[in-house]
Amino acid sequence: MIKTNYLVIGSGVAGLTFAVKIAEKFPEKTIIIITKDNENESNTKYAQGGVAIVLDTEEDSFKKHIQDTLIAGDGLCDKSVVEMVIKEGPKRLKELIVWGANFDLDAEGNFDLGKEGGHSEYRVVHHKDITGFEVLRALLNRVHQLKNITVLPHHFAIDLITEHQLETPIPNDLSCYGAYVLNEKSGKVLTIQAERTLLASGGIGSVYGHTTNPVIATGDGIAMAYRAKAQIKDMEFIQFHPTATYNPKGGTSFLISEAVRGFGAYLRNKKGYRFMLDYDERVELASRDIVSQSIDNELKKTGDTHVFLDCTHLDIKSFKKHFPNIYQECLDKHINVKKDWIPVVPAAHYLCGGIVVDKHGKTSINNLFACGECTRTGLHGANRLASNSLLEALVYAHNIYNYQCNHQTKPLSFIIPKWNDKGTNIPKEHVLITHNLNQLQALMRDYVGIVRSNDRLTKAIAHLDFIYNEVEELYKKSKIDTSLCELRNMINIAHLIISQSLERKENKGGYYNIDNL
Ligand code: FAD
Ligand code: SIN
Repeated sequence: MIKTNYLVIGSGVAGLTFAVKIAEKFPEKTIIIITKDNENESNTKYAQGGVAIVLDTEEDSFKKHIQDTLIAGDGLCDKSVVEMVIKEGPKRLKELIVWGANFDLDAEGNFDLGKEGGHSEYRVVHHKDITGFEVLRALLNRVHQLKNITVLPHHFAIDLITEHQLETPIPNDLSCYGAYVLNEKSGKVLTIQAERTLLASGGIGSVYGHTTNPVIATGDGIAMAYRAKAQIKDMEFIQFHPTATYNPKGGTSFLISEAVRGFGAYLRNKKGYRFMLDYDERVELASRDIVSQSIDNELKKTGDTHVFLDCTHLDIKSFKKHFPNIYQECLDKHINVKKDWIPVVPAAHYLCGGIVVDKHGKTSINNLFACGECTRTGLHGANRLASNSLLEALVYAHNIYNYQCNHQTKPLSFIIPKWNDKGTNIPKEHVLITHNLNQLQALMRDYVGIVRSNDRLTKAIAHLDFIYNEVEELYKKSKIDTSLCELRNMINIAHLIISQSLERKENKGGYYNIDNL
């Protein structure tokens, strides 16, 4: 058994920021960060547009950013959370800069600010079109300097340890004591006992197959918290990004940042018509839910598979300066943005709901905290405003850290049983896993997409039950294997999305059901 003061599950912006702050403040405390892939593989790595931060100047104000966030959230945001996050933003940005993150400046030395859908002002601080990569670079660099942090890459959290696993459960207690973790290289399951555990395990895009997220975004943290009986909410609010590059094979798609539309790009259908003129007075810069639903409608009307993003009228020199990575990725796909329209289609991008936390990042389970995309804080309501996610993770990592400063941890004095895998074997055939994964992703794409109906959702539940039973049977017989655990977690996530969709009787933000009209 490994003992630590803090166990952090995930090495994206949320987990790393928290770990750095705790390690700097408490050099005597130990922090273990486990992460299931390389230490920098995460949704954070791919963040393009930037961090929405208002510096409360003459041009912009906290009030306007708060208003834009509330409008995007379509009446379901928690206003006090929105105010808190937006007002804390500038302080958190300064810390990132102290840790070494670089953000683009204009000729006068001020931040070069971008604009994205739903923002009434230019306020997105960025590092070219690879902001997340830069933020991770700086955070990992700082993590490696701190002696009391141990990073364990290729370590997969299987389940949280709560009183359910104890030999003598503590009555009336629902607390977290760490996690069972698979060392993916050795195949051994470790018991990591922790006084406090932070879930910073990111998003769920892979449940849909067609997504802007990397394949590791399988909702593991939310599924673990759900099995441990934590409160989970707002799972029906999946954000589909309007402009993922069209990939006929499905799977992960390269994103064309909303900042490109902020820079002046137009959306056109195959005939060249700028169809957003028919849907919203903010045209291409309406909030994401509206643009994605409009594209979906346009595709249903025309029978086309994708629409186009037209950048041909933009100043190419300036485009290349602002979006060097997007320019190059397009060239690699034989698309010259100066001459060619980029084929795009909406893809699953972000989960607005998740594990319910309070303003200190506390979940409904004692000693279990959560931060970042796996959480439901109340900031996003029914639809997240662009570039508010990195901001949310930075602010909540700080709040959780603050809570630790005021509430010291206590050593645990009881024995946690080892992982029990008696009677299990290495699965002989992987086909059961890949087949069920393909079925699950097809189900989510076809029945639980941008536009839903009660009939399709009810059918989805029935199909999911079948997949669930087959996979549970396999899981009980099998030695722990990452792809099987991920599939099991994605089934839990799909169940939460579908069942919470069926409970919603009013269309809001990113949730659109034709039977609620
Ligand atoms: P992640 O960065 O996803 O990190 C999760 C970590 O948890 C990973 O290290 C993962 O390996 C680990 N993990 C997961 N499960 C397990 C497990 N079982 N065991 C061990 N480790 C596990 N937001 C913005 O604000 N601005 C943007 O410009 C922006 N652009 C985006 C562009 C793209 C293409 C994408 C996909 C997202 C973008 N977002 C953007 C959203 C934003 O990047 C994410 O919401 C945010 O980075 C999430 O950070 P996180 O730390 O919560 O999770
Ligand atoms: C983008 O750059 O379009 C993504 C921004 C975000 O998801 O917040």
